[in-house]
Amino acid sequence: MYEMKPEYFTGIDFIDKEHARLFAIADEAYQLLKNEFIPDKYDHIMSLIKELEEYTRYHFKHEEEYMQSIGYKRLLSQKVAHDDFIQKINEYTPDVVDENQKDTLLELLNFLATWLVEHIYRQDKLIAE
Ligand SMILES: [Fe+2]
Ligand SMILES: [Fe+2]
Repeated sequence: MYEMKPEYFTGIDFIDKEHARLFAIADEAYQLLKNEFIPDKYDHIMSLIKELEEYTRYHFKHEEEYMQSIGYKRLLSQKVAHDDFIQKINEYTPDVVDENQKDTLLELLNFLATWLVEHIYRQDKLIAE
């Protein structure tokens, strides 16, 4: 369902590989949402959020270090976008997840998928220019 498509490639190998991993995490969220055999998804959702946060922090750091190394002029706006993303992810606290698992998971998935595609198109693809 969620995966890398040709139009998402930036042409920078490590960035594309890491983006592929982020799409795989989005797909995990989608599979979890669809799964009707887990009555209580709290632990799954929390570990998914943890995985997402850890991996995006790793990816953003990697991407920012690369931009720095090439003297990329739009580094600051990238950092702002990356920090906003982490802040948004941090809003998914245990209480929020516990209150409404299904809606929270759905919202998280929509946010992640939209953010990823838009950020790649509007910002990450420019890095290779
Ligand atoms: Fe980025
Ligand atoms: Fe990226």
